Amino acid sequence: MYGSAATVDSIDCTKGKIRAVVNRSLVPEDPRHAENTVEWLLKLDPDADEALQIAALGHDIDRAIEARKVQRADFGDYDAFKAAHARNSAIILKEIMDTCGLAPGMQEEVYRLVCNHEVGGDPRTDLLKDADAISYFDVNLPLYYERNGWEETLRRCEWGYRRLSARMRPVAANMSYDQPELNALLERAVGEASASALNDGVLKRD
Ligand SMILES: [Fe+2]
Repeated sequence: MYGSAATVDSIDCTKGKIRAVVNRSLVPEDPRHAENTVEWLLKLDPDADEALQIAALGHDIDRAIEARKVQRADFGDYDAFKAAHARNSAIILKEIMDTCGLAPGMQEEVYRLVCNHEVGGDPRTDLLKDADAISYFDVNLPLYYERNGWEETLRRCEWGYRRLSARMRPVAANMSYDQPELNALLERAVGEASASALNDGVLKRD
């Protein structure tokens, strides 16, 4: 489906430009997180197509562009902030995909996936959401903790754990870190997220 030379070139161009932007991010975990989200995507679905791989690589691209990124302080609600971040990343990716001449159908799919990657809603977007969410626990958490401290990281972990699918929650819960306090933090986050999910019946429905 994506076999022609021009298509392969446009995909390579898009991935190369995304990497160039993300590698300049001032958020230290961004480059590793982008690659690691692709790795998790392919672990969860070895047949994940190029649109999914591009979306995984670029889903957080707005964080890498200081002049354009949405600011947490501008949003009272964390979910509203995340929705704005997702849309802004999709808009930036659209510009890159246009520059590289990526096929319109693939562009639309990448745009759609990235716009919805925080919340999911269909099997493909849910897959991207799961890869992104588990990657936070795999590679982001230690650096996030260094910057933001216990309380904020605990809140972020609870939010991230609730966002995971039922099949990926045990994977996150079994992560282990070099720093003992991070293992304690994870255990606390999993406990609190599970307790609040039981209270509102979320785990029963999963
Ligand atoms: Fe992400």
